[in-house]
Amino acid sequence: MLSEKTKQLILRLQERYPVKRSALIPSLHLAQSEVGYLPLEVQQEVADLFDLELNEVNGVVTFYDMFFEKPVGKHLIHVCKNVSCMLRGSDELMGQLCHRLKITTGETSEDGEFTLIASECLGACDRAPMMLLDDQVVGPVKEGEVDHLLEDAKHGAGHPSPMKVMESIHE
Ligand code: FES
Repeated sequence: MLSEKTKQLILRLQERYPVKRSALIPSLHLAQSEVGYLPLEVQQEVADLFDLELNEVNGVVTFYDMFFEKPVGKHLIHVCKNVSCMLRGSDELMGQLCHRLKITTGETSEDGEFTLIASECLGACDRAPMMLLDDQVVGPVKEGEVDHLLEDAKHGAGHPSPMKVMESIHE
């Protein structure tokens, strides 16, 4: 399922590290960028490129919430649920998003536009309550801003493509 181009990028990425396994996470980003998510067949292809067992790669994929084993929406919304954000209203923010999108956490809206994810601290506690909307840190999110933010996001490019970053590195 991975293109020859992606495989070559992964092999070149491995050369940038003293231990090739260190390139596993960026390589998974590349694979996900091409396929849209990481089904087991793709994880196996990545494992083969690293001389790893499938379960080693799967352990990484299932540990991080930026990797997906099933298809996701065009736009990703990560809502921080950690202490600073929780104290400043992240539960209410998540509630509003669930209501607007008619989904619960972890689901994708019926139109395929948005997937909603509850995340651990995203490193922008000073902007609590915050969310990562595709590659944009948004916050503090005020009551009444959700509709506007969702509408704006629909006109954006969607979640970031590490493939574009890699292509620019290797040009
Ligand atoms: S607690 Fe929400 S970004 Fe850190």
